[in-house]
Amino acid sequence: MNEAIQNMITRRSCRAFQSKQVEESALQEILQAGLYAATGRNKQSPIMVVVQNPEEVKLLSKLNADVMGVDTDPFYGAPMVIVELADSNVHTYVEDGSLVIGNLMNAASSLGVASCWIHRAKEVFASDEGQALLKKWGVEGDYVGVGHCVLGYREGEEQEASPRRENRVFRP
Ligand SMILES: Cc1cc2nc3c(=O)[nH]c(=O)nc-3n(C[C@H](O)[C@H](O)[C@H](O)COP(=O)(O)O)c2cc1C
Repeated sequence: MNEAIQNMITRRSCRAFQSKQVEESALQEILQAGLYAATGRNKQSPIMVVVQNPEEVKLLSKLNADVMGVDTDPFYGAPMVIVELADSNVHTYVEDGSLVIGNLMNAASSLGVASCWIHRAKEVFASDEGQALLKKWGVEGDYVGVGHCVLGYREGEEQEASPRRENRVFRP
């Protein structure tokens, strides 16, 4: 098995992060991987908002928790988050944005950076608070939240992958 496939298989979601910020050189490479994700008709509509300001990370975590009606930290203490949004006028926007997050997570894993996809971006960025953030960030247009990719360095041991469910490959 080659290194790229090995990396995809060994990538695991992280749910406990150190406070240490992600190395800038690694982040640059992770973002490049996101930019090169395939998009339907090569529309390249997904955008990534890199949030490293601790106050803003905290706010995004709080808005996320509010959607669930809990007061825990859905970002697991991650020092940064890449917010993935895509243009809802593009008919493949959800698939396009999802593939970007997949690239981000796989690239991160290959560089020893831990990640986790955090849901509820759609609800967060449809809310007044989310819309205000988009305005503050200078994001204009019909952008809808696809997901959040939290990044950082793992605290503690990585969990093993759960067993793969059977009968998911059909070769008639
Ligand atoms: C669309 C999507 C939404 C997810 N949302 C969350 C989430 O909100 N919180 C979380 O802890 N993990 C979330 N995850 C991570 C999954 O729970 C995780 O990928 C799954 O348990 C398999 O574990 P692995 O990534 O380590 O293989 C999400 C993953 C996907 C693909």
